[in-house]
Amino acid sequence: MRPEIIRHVPALTQRVTGWRKGGQEIGVVPTMGALHEGHLSLVRAAKADCDRVIVTIFVNPKQFNNPADLEKYPRTEAEDVALLASLGVDVVFMPLPAKVYPEGFATSVSVSGVSGPLEGSHRPGHFDGVATVVAKLFGMTQAHRAYFGQKDWQQLQVVLRMVADLNMPVKIIGCETIREADGLAMSSRNARLDTASRAKAPALYNAMQRAAAAIRGGMPVPAAMKQARAEVLAAGFDEVDYIELRSAALLERVSDLEAPARMLAAAVIGDVRLIDNIAV
Ligand code: PAF
Repeated sequence: MRPEIIRHVPALTQRVTGWRKGGQEIGVVPTMGALHEGHLSLVRAAKADCDRVIVTIFVNPKQFNNPADLEKYPRTEAEDVALLASLGVDVVFMPLPAKVYPEGFATSVSVSGVSGPLEGSHRPGHFDGVATVVAKLFGMTQAHRAYFGQKDWQQLQVVLRMVADLNMPVKIIGCETIREADGLAMSSRNARLDTASRAKAPALYNAMQRAAAAIRGGMPVPAAMKQARAEVLAAGFDEVDYIELRSAALLERVSDLEAPARMLAAAVIGDVRLIDNIAV
């Protein structure tokens, strides 16, 4: 069944108020569109848990620190809605930027600590933009549960921190990264890889896997990270922004495996910047 397309906040409020009055559990999957199997896995998880599922599609200008990146972000609205129809989503909420950030909008949500390193230092302001829009989407959808991919691990930690700090009445569910058969993490940005870059792209995940095995086998973390960086560059990536082992929740530097750790990486191939992370 085709989902109901809602573009205006009052119409969304009316719909969700009715559902909540009826005691229905609402799940939201926030996205920026250009949907792929990774997003669909979040929708399936939401469908399994909730009475009603809303998918939001909004390319959030506040989280792009580079205007060219915002411009190039793929927009595939008709295909997205068709995919969501096949999954039985109730509502697709696709607001215009002026509805999300009307004139006079003056609030920014900033989660310190976990927003700082890695993506935070390479994309200044990015997580303020994410936290601000996610807080708004929670308010607008009044969802009981919200589904995020572990692919954006740092984003997931930022959202968890925000929800805990601000006592937001929503449960955050982090879902496993979905990968192509060759290991490349699914991402809307993959569509921008040319054939040669696409063939080289799995090298990032492969190098991370080898480094994780080496660390588990006793190799010192700095040596393993140095080796992984060299492997990624040798495989044809143009730049490695970072490849680091961090504590899983606070994303602090770790030099051994005493606490749950996460390896996170960002690297550029052609003009596409890929990120990935794995548990170690
Ligand atoms: O992960 C994304 O697609 C975006 O950062 C999100 C969570 C939809 C906020 O714009």
